Amino acid sequence: MSKQWRSERLSQLGSSIFAEVAEWRSEAAGKGRDIINLSIGSPDKPPTEAVRKALSEAALRTDMYAYPGTHGSGSFRRQAAAWMEHRFGVKLDPDKELVSLMGSQDGLSHLAMSLCNPGDVVIVPNPGYPIYTAALALAGVEPYLLPLKEENHFLPDLDAVPEEVWQRAKFILLNYPGNPVSAVADLAFFERLLAKAKQYEVLVVHDAAYSEMAFEGHEPPSILAVPGALDGAVEFHSLSKSFNMAGCRIGFLAGNREAVGALRELKENIDYGVFGAVQEAGVVALQEAMSASAPPKAGVLYEQRRDSFIEALAAAGWVVEKPKATMFIWAKLPKRGDGTTWTSREFARSLLDQTGVVVIPGEAFGSEGEGFVRIALVEDEARLLEATGRIGEFLNRG
Ligand SMILES: Cc1ncc(COP(=O)(O)O)c(C=O)c1O
Repeated sequence: MSKQWRSERLSQLGSSIFAEVAEWRSEAAGKGRDIINLSIGSPDKPPTEAVRKALSEAALRTDMYAYPGTHGSGSFRRQAAAWMEHRFGVKLDPDKELVSLMGSQDGLSHLAMSLCNPGDVVIVPNPGYPIYTAALALAGVEPYLLPLKEENHFLPDLDAVPEEVWQRAKFILLNYPGNPVSAVADLAFFERLLAKAKQYEVLVVHDAAYSEMAFEGHEPPSILAVPGALDGAVEFHSLSKSFNMAGCRIGFLAGNREAVGALRELKENIDYGVFGAVQEAGVVALQEAMSASAPPKAGVLYEQRRDSFIEALAAAGWVVEKPKATMFIWAKLPKRGDGTTWTSREFARSLLDQTGVVVIPGEAFGSEGEGFVRIALVEDEARLLEATGRIGEFLNRG
C-alpha cells in the first residue's frame, strides 16, 4: 500500500464542480470558442485612484515590511469601526470588537476552528457560499443544512429547524444580500433570527460581503444594528466587492467580543496579519465612502448591468427574477424545447459547449441549488448583451 500525499479532508471541500466548470471552459477555449466568463464573482473594475495611490505610496515606505501583526493596524480597525457607525449606526470598540482579515474568506474558513469543538453542529444555508460547509469539514464540525426556498423569498424557516439541532448548534451562519441567491433580508428578519438564536445560546454569524451592492436605493442593514446584537452576533465585511479590492485581500469581522477574540487568538497562531500597505489602502477606501464626495457605490454599476441583461434575456425568451442586490443573478432554469427539465449541470455544460458562455450550476452550492444557475454580471454591458444573444440562440435550438 502506498502513502497518499493528499488528505481525505480535501475531498470534503466540495469544490469539484468549480474545477469541472473550469475544465469545460478550457476545453471549449481549446476548440476556439470565444469565452464569456460569467462564472466567478470577481469585480472587473479597479478600486478608485485614491485607493490605488494610497496602496502604492504605502508600498514605497520602508516601514511597511515588518510583520504587520494579526490584530491589524489600529488605524484600519479604527476606520472600519468609524465606517460601521457611519453606514449602519453600529458603535464598536475597535480593539475588542473588530479584527482585520485577509479578506472575509480568511475569517469564514477559520471561524469554526476557533469557536467549535469536533462534533459540534453549525447551521448553514443550502444553497450557500461553498466555504461555509468547507470550513466545517476542516474543523470536524457537523453541518445542518438550512434550506432556502423560493416560496419563502429565500429566507430560512427558522422554526422548521429541529429543537435538537438548535440545542447542539454553536452558531448559525447566514448571508444577505446573498451569494449565490441574491436575496435580501430586513432588520425585522434579523430581529427574529437573533431572538430565536438567543433562546438556545447560538451565536449568529452574518456574512455581509455584498452590503454595498444593492439596487434602487436599498441599503442593506447590518445585523449588528439590532439592539443587543453585540451579545450574540458577529458580522463579516469585505472590501473586495464594496470597493473593488478583491485582489488586495482585506476585510474584517465585527461584533461579539468573545467570538471576535476567539478568531483573533486562532489567527495569532497561524498568520502575521494583512500587509500594512493594503491596510492603508483600506483606510482610504472607507474614508472615501464616508466623505461628502463619496464615489458611487458598487451597486450602481451592477444595477445598470442587471437591468440590461435581464431585459435582453427576457427578449431572448428566458424570464428571470430581478435581484435586489449583488452581482449575481440566481436564474431558474427554463424548460427544454421538448418540455423536459434540465439539470443545472447539464444546462451549464451545454450552454458553455454551444455558446462559450460560462455560468455555475446551482448544484455547486448545495442540493437546494438544483434547478438554478448562477450568472455573475462581471463583464461590461456589450459583452453581457452578446451573452444574452448567444443564450437566446441556444434556447431556440432547444
Ligand atoms: C458571500 C461571500 N462571502 C465572502 C466572500 C469572500 O470575499 P473576500 O474573501 O474577498 O472578502 C465572497 C466572495 O466571493 C462571497 O461571495
